[in-house]
Amino acid sequence: MVPGLIYENPLEYIYTLLLDILVCTVKSFYFLLETIFLTLLPDRLRNKKDVTGQVVLITGGGGGVGRHIALNFAKLNAKIVIWDVNREAINATCDALKTEGYECASYIVDISDREKVYEAAKKVKEEIGKVDILVNNAGIVTCRPFLDLPDKAIESTYAVNILSHYWTAKAFLPDMIADKRGHIVTVSSVTGLMGTYACTDYSATKFATVGFHESLYSELKYHGHEYIGMTLVCPYYINTGMFSGVKPRLFPMLEAKYVADQLVESTLKNEVNCTLPGSVRFLLPLKCLLPAKTCWEMMLRIMKGPQSMSMYRGRGKAKSG
Ligand SMILES: NC(=O)c1ccc[n+]([C@@H]2O[C@H](COP(=O)([O-])OP(=O)(O)OC[C@H]3O[C@@H](n4cnc5c(N)ncnc54)[C@H](O)[C@@H]3O)[C@@H](O)[C@H]2O)c1
Repeated sequence: MVPGLIYENPLEYIYTLLLDILVCTVKSFYFLLETIFLTLLPDRLRNKKDVTGQVVLITGGGGGVGRHIALNFAKLNAKIVIWDVNREAINATCDALKTEGYECASYIVDISDREKVYEAAKKVKEEIGKVDILVNNAGIVTCRPFLDLPDKAIESTYAVNILSHYWTAKAFLPDMIADKRGHIVTVSSVTGLMGTYACTDYSATKFATVGFHESLYSELKYHGHEYIGMTLVCPYYINTGMFSGVKPRLFPMLEAKYVADQLVESTLKNEVNCTLPGSVRFLLPLKCLLPAKTCWEMMLRIMKGPQSMSMYRGRGKAKSG
């Protein structure tokens, strides 16, 4: 029988509901105070995860953000494993690490191919060891209005941006559970919190990563695997060239190093959510509170979202940023 859901009589139902509300309120108040305290506490006094000797695997580790994530974890004496489809990008990351005196194991893996992911995971376990921190970072974008999106592009976006999270998590989570330690970092996007023009595929996959993170988080908590950390990272535009040509109106694009710094810090602090820049968090509730027409007016007139996205030119066709 599922505890807390089946009752002998209505009085018991009301009594347990009131008790649960009371406990939840007291705990929520405590968590609120804890969050305020941790926000005000200087960074050097925060309790952070020690990743020395831990294996950190970064998908898309050859890319703009991935390279900085790799470098940051290497500086913390973690063992770095890079997965990417792009040999040149992998070499550039490994060279950057070697220049700083760090090692880097790299594998060419197309994470959209489930069997290739399982094969590569087996190889990593044999050659490097079990993965302690999995950073699901690789992502692709097409940036075209819905009717101009080729079917193949939609399928690829889903395969890389979300389905791959299932394959990598399935490959590494069982070891994390067995060893009672681990961390899964999900790189989503602000477009995963707010639908974006010319991104019916990209935005939808990023929403899916949020759902994946939240659902898996609830499963791990409910089944007592509290020792596994889960961090969701939702950045605004980043100046890596992925959204080359786009000119956001209100905030400048973020720098890849800043995003990687925040991602690694959040992981070390075991934070569940990391929205970048943090101020975006205050805009999001408006989406549920204001009339949809008002939100659209803000998007069109104030943020000029569609106008700025229609300036997208893609990599190599325009200067990024
Ligand atoms: N750039 C932005 O404005 C922005 C904003 C919010 C979120 N993000 C997300 O941040 C993450 C990193 O973005 P970035 O700007 O560093 O992108 P990037 O294009 O610079 O790097 C992505 C990397 O993923 C690799 N990759 C692509 N397909 C792959 C596949 N099938 N298998 C393995 N590797 C593959 C690419 O080769 C590349 O090295 C992505 O998930 C992206 O969606 C980016």
